[in-house]
Amino acid sequence: MVEHSSSFFQGWEDDEHVRLFDWFSYFPTPLFLKQFEYFNEVRLLKEYFQVNGAKEKSMFEVGCATGEVFRYLKRRQHECQYRGFDISANAINAAKKKFPKGNFYCIEENTRQIFKEYGQADIVFSRDVVIHQTNVWGFLDSLIELTRGSLIMRMKTRDVGTTCLDPELSCQAHYRKYWMPYVVINVDELCEYLAQKSDVKKITILKSYGILGGQNGRFLPKELYFPESGTAETSVCIEKGLRNRDKPEIVTRVQSDKMHWSLFDRAWLKLWLTYKMPPTADASKVS
Ligand SMILES: C[S@@+](CC[C@H](N)C(=O)[O-])C[C@H]1O[C@@H](n2cnc3c(N)ncnc32)[C@H](O)[C@@H]1O
Repeated sequence: MVEHSSSFFQGWEDDEHVRLFDWFSYFPTPLFLKQFEYFNEVRLLKEYFQVNGAKEKSMFEVGCATGEVFRYLKRRQHECQYRGFDISANAINAAKKKFPKGNFYCIEENTRQIFKEYGQADIVFSRDVVIHQTNVWGFLDSLIELTRGSLIMRMKTRDVGTTCLDPELSCQAHYRKYWMPYVVINVDELCEYLAQKSDVKKITILKSYGILGGQNGRFLPKELYFPESGTAETSVCIEKGLRNRDKPEIVTRVQSDKMHWSLFDRAWLKLWLTYKMPPTADASKVS
């Protein structure tokens, strides 16, 4: 097993991580596409492609796990030049096995390695990765450095109360063996941080509100168990470029990303998973 610099990263090598995060690979393609396009970060990605096209664009995915975003791009014929990066050798091996024509790379925790070896990409995509870092702002800096055009991320946010950056006090138990950082970022702090960067032109924020405390083995500051904190699954698009005023333009939208499955879809999925999914994989995905 690959050894990581901190015990907070070791769980990503566990076989259970590969099994859980490969859950979507067992979905029938129409339901996979339906579910994916309900995710706010995928809505932002589609908006990017509608405005800028995909064909000549390069895309890096940081924290690609087993490569299901690559499957999405192929199925929808968004023919951008995709490279997927992850620190989990186990997940990258699974991605390579599923998609032999894809470009998948195992990296160290520091994404500056990508910048040094591959430069920048027009679009950088990183879903549920920044929240699991021991150095959240440093990781965000390195994603911004990697981005030539737009950076799209999913993270967890709070409207009220300061960000707790201590991974001992804001964390999640994974695979019954590991604690990982689980950082819930205050949205205003995020915007203020980004406003200091003169090349950030616009920030689009899509929030899907919901209480984060109390689910999936999370150990979070107490106030995050109550609605007053305004916690959300939040997708953010950071556009780089020249800005003609002091601060970046900030657009905030509230849009639920919880899909409502029809009875027919539910039955189809259940039957499909019963036959296709290995018995060890479990549908209760951790994120
Ligand atoms: C919660 S999973 C999300 C996987 C995938 N993005 C998704 O949404 O299904 C986080 C992934 O990010 C990877 N990861 C964690 N820290 C990373 C880092 N510093 N650089 C690159 N990948 C990282 C983990 O190995 C894991 O596969």
